[in-house]
Amino acid sequence: MLTSRQVVDAIADLFAGEGADDYLGEDVTQAEHMLQAAALAAAEGAPPALVAAALLHDVGHFRGAVHGRELMSGGRDNRHSHQGADWLAPWFGPAVTEPVRLHVAAKRYLCAVEPEYFALLSPASVHTLSVQGGPMSPAEATAFAAEPFAQDAVRLRRWDDAAKDASVAVPDFDHYREMLAALTGAGDE
Ligand SMILES: [Fe+2]
Repeated sequence: MLTSRQVVDAIADLFAGEGADDYLGEDVTQAEHMLQAAALAAAEGAPPALVAAALLHDVGHFRGAVHGRELMSGGRDNRHSHQGADWLAPWFGPAVTEPVRLHVAAKRYLCAVEPEYFALLSPASVHTLSVQGGPMSPAEATAFAAEPFAQDAVRLRRWDDAAKDASVAVPDFDHYREMLAALTGAGDE
């Protein structure tokens, strides 16, 4: 079992490595995007687990990123939300992993229940919506809203959508190390 510090170091390495890649056609890198999402969550006073979920929400893009992008460009959902949540699950509880798992579904949900939401999406996000299944049906939206972490996922989704501003400076990964270590269920050194 990895120690808390090893878990956080492993995530830091992902941010420093693959995190420098661009974020699916947006003006920011993957790491900048995730750090901006975390800063927005913190600015709204979200609890640490939800700030962590915002910080880590696209970690599924890091694992086998090339393969994932091929799937996406091939017109299919790359399921990065589920891959990310599954990758985090050995170390973090559901208050972190479930908003990550549901953040793509939350986009499909918001498109179904808030007509004005769609207008806020970036062109890249509109494209991925189509390969993620499009807006939810009314039945799907009702089922989504009943999920235990649905509202956290919706909050995360709005930070995700706003975290694409190349002109913003936000705290770096090290700012979150202590918070992440405290949230891991791994043993301390
Ligand atoms: Fe994102």
